Amino acid sequence: MAIMVTGGAGYIGSHTVAELLARGEEVVVVDNLQQGHRQAVLGGKLYEGDLRDQVFLDKVFQENKIEAVIHFAANSLVGESMKLPGKYYHNNVYGTLCLLEKMNEYGVGKIVFSSTAATYGEPENVPIQETDRTLPTNAYGETKLAMEKMMKWFDTAHGIKYVSLRYFNAAGAHESGKIGEDHNPETHLIPLILQVPLGQRSHITVFGNDYATSDGTCVRDYIHVSDLADAHVLAVEKLRRGEDSGIYNLGSGNGFSVNEVIEVARQVTGHPIPAVMEQRRAGDPAVLIASSERARAELGWQPKRDKLENIIASAWAWHQANPHGYAKA
Ligand code: UFG
Repeated sequence: MAIMVTGGAGYIGSHTVAELLARGEEVVVVDNLQQGHRQAVLGGKLYEGDLRDQVFLDKVFQENKIEAVIHFAANSLVGESMKLPGKYYHNNVYGTLCLLEKMNEYGVGKIVFSSTAATYGEPENVPIQETDRTLPTNAYGETKLAMEKMMKWFDTAHGIKYVSLRYFNAAGAHESGKIGEDHNPETHLIPLILQVPLGQRSHITVFGNDYATSDGTCVRDYIHVSDLADAHVLAVEKLRRGEDSGIYNLGSGNGFSVNEVIEVARQVTGHPIPAVMEQRRAGDPAVLIASSERARAELGWQPKRDKLENIIASAWAWHQANPHGYAKA
C-alpha cells in the first residue's frame, strides 16, 4: 500500500517524501509542477497533474493501492491571495473537494493535511493553542480553514479520518544537501536574507520596526522543515493506529524577531548583511509563536533541529550549492 503525497514536489512536500522513503514507505507523488520541482522528488512514483482533473485522479487511484494521503498541494502566498482570492478558492478549496470525493469513491480513509498558523489570524494568546479562535486575516488562511472544515464533515459523513498540521514558519533544508527551499517568487525572510551573501541583493528589507515587540520587529516561530516532515510521518502512524481526527500546531515554541534572524544569519554566513527599515507589510501579526504541546503529547513529536543557527546553516548550505535553486543547479 502506498502513501499519496499531493504537492510532493514542493518545499515541505519534498522533505516529507524524503522522510517517508527513508522509512521504507511506498510513495506516490502527485504534483502539477506549477510551484514544485521535478528534481525535488527523490524517489517514489511521480504523477504530473492537477487534483481538479478527475480523469487524472482516477488514473492515480486506479494504478496504485493508496492507504493514506498527505495533502500539501495548494497555493500559499498571503499577498497573492489578497489580490487573487478566486485562484486560492479554486486551487485550494475546490482542489481539496475533488481529492476528498475521490478518496471517498476509492475507499481511502486517512488524510494528513498541510495547514497553517494563518488560520488563527491575529493571535488571542501567546503561545497559540489549537483551541484558540480562528479568524484568518487573509484569503490564504481562510481557504486553509475552509479545507480543514471540509475534512471535518467528510469525517462525520464518510469516516475519512484527518490530521491537520498547522505550521508556523518552515525554514532550513535537508541534511543530505539534495533538497531545499526554492520558491518563485521568493517572499520568505530566511531565503531572502541569504540572497545578500550570495550577491543577489544588496540588503534585506525589514518590514516595520514599530511593533509591540522587544526590538520593534515581528517575532516568528521558525521550525526546521525536516522536523515538520517527521510530524507528517507520525500523523500517518496515528491514523494507522485507528485514532480519531485531530488538529496540531507545529512550531518550536521559540520566537525570534526579524532583527534577531538577520543577526544569526550574519554569524552563520560571516557576511555583514545590511538591513534597511521599511513600512510594515500588510497583514503581518506582531508575534506568532506556537504551543506544540498537543503534538508532543499525542503524536510523540519532538523537534530535533530547533536551534535557529542550525536551521539557517542548513538553508545556507543548500543555497550556496544551488544559488539559483533547482532550475540552474
Ligand atoms: N519579512 C521582512 N522582510 C522580508 C520578508 C519578510 O521583514 O523581506 C518579515 C515579515 O514581515 C514577517 C517575517 O519576516 O514579519 C517572516 O515573514 P515570512 O514571509 O518569511 O513568513 P510569514 O510569517 O509572513 O508567513 C508564514 C508562512 C505563511 C503563513 C504565515 C502565517 O510562510 O504561509 O506564516 O501567518 F501563512
